[in-house]
Amino acid sequence: MDEKARGPVKAIVLGAGYRGRAYAAYATAHPDRLEIVGVADPEQASTIMSPRYWGDWRECLLARPDADLVFITLPDALHHQAAITALDMGYNLLLEKPLATTEAQCREIIDMANAKGLLVITGHVLRHTRYFAHIKAIIDSGTLGEVVSIAHQESAGYFKAAHSLCRGNWANAAKSSPIILQKCSHDFDLFAWWLGRRCRRVSSFGSISLFRKENRPDGAAERCEDCPGSIEQGCIWSARRMYLGEDSKLGYMFADTSREAMERVVRETDFGRCVYACDNDVPDHQVVSMEFEGGATVSLVMAGFTEHNVRSTRISCTRGEIVGDGSTLHICRFVDNKTWDISHDATGAGLSPLAAQFPGAANSAPEPSSNESRHGGGDFNLVTEALHLMKNGSRDAIKAVTEQSLESHLIAFAAEESRLNGGKVVELK
Ligand SMILES: NC(=O)c1ccc[n+]([C@@H]2O[C@H](COP(=O)([O-])OP(=O)(O)OC[C@H]3O[C@@H](n4cnc5c(N)ncnc54)[C@H](O)[C@@H]3O)[C@@H](O)[C@H]2O)c1
Repeated sequence: MDEKARGPVKAIVLGAGYRGRAYAAYATAHPDRLEIVGVADPEQASTIMSPRYWGDWRECLLARPDADLVFITLPDALHHQAAITALDMGYNLLLEKPLATTEAQCREIIDMANAKGLLVITGHVLRHTRYFAHIKAIIDSGTLGEVVSIAHQESAGYFKAAHSLCRGNWANAAKSSPIILQKCSHDFDLFAWWLGRRCRRVSSFGSISLFRKENRPDGAAERCEDCPGSIEQGCIWSARRMYLGEDSKLGYMFADTSREAMERVVRETDFGRCVYACDNDVPDHQVVSMEFEGGATVSLVMAGFTEHNVRSTRISCTRGEIVGDGSTLHICRFVDNKTWDISHDATGAGLSPLAAQFPGAANSAPEPSSNESRHGGGDFNLVTEALHLMKNGSRDAIKAVTEQSLESHLIAFAAEESRLNGGKVVELK
């Protein structure tokens, strides 16, 4: 084995925001496996330790840093151009979802990677968590029979609805991408993975229910800082409450969470805007109905106004049912009415004790024991998978992983086409 194959994979990070920092943390935790050799970001590059910095992704790639992997964690609209440029230069990619904002661009990226034998692994971190991998393993064991239907809800959490769907980077589809692609490509990825089949047709409805200009209270200002106290103090959506309040659930999105920095966020950035005075045009609730090959049906509810940011799932099979609340799986086997509850909190034993009931399941689930990163360990497990494929993956394995993200994107584009056309059924090619 040569020195390069033995040493850490060298990588550059394009976009040092929330996601860039999440992946770069892997190099700090596992310096023997990953080394960050360059970072590009106009504002936050230095939040990631690196020997070299650039202010823009293009300048960085033009310098052709000696690296094998590029993390593309830029705003959605920049993914396509950055991905094509980096692939053209021969870099493998960990490309945040969405791959790109149109179907044609997504296909171009995948085709180019395949032609060059390079890896494009997408930020679909959920399939790399124990919880979701265990659902896959239970289905694959065959103990519960065939999957007939899936009812799944992606609850954004009311605080994230205001942050992401109204004030923030994903509120305007033209500036980023359709919200059903942005938020739910994860969910479509799970469905296609669990079922191991392709989606045939899709129909969808959704709209903006609350964050509309006509709902702005009389006398409310454009920014929360300027709003009369009589209105601002009673407002659920007050930016002061969301970002400066003791119960703020959004601080983790920012590199600098000092009081001074967060006050600047409220005072100077888009996150300080009144939720009724933004340029948001993406739905705050959307439903998608899907039919997969073989007839299994799936319904997805994307709901903005919920207490928690969590995914819940009910999977009906011919011989049993799986019900998940985001951390615990409740399984029922109809033949003997036997039930099990598998906890995925820190003390959860996982599937191992159930190996006899679900043959093969305990072994087939990747056992990402680590909860050392966000998304239940999924962020780091995804990086581990990327590094493994780059060092040991066959060309076929790399191609299979590169192509697997396309299906989720095609479902999302079809759902958006349907929603914009009054819910018409869209057939997937
Ligand atoms: N996989 C997931 O679960 C998940 C979660 C959130 C976001 N995302 C995706 O990750 C990507 C990044 O999202 P984020 O939440 O980290 O956003 P972010 O705004 O925190 O980070 C994006 C960074 O890109 C930088 N940037 C902008 N223009 C640049 C340029 N020309 N050159 C270099 N850097 C530039 C910005 O300054 C910012 O720091 C998005 O595509 C988003 O859809 C994925």
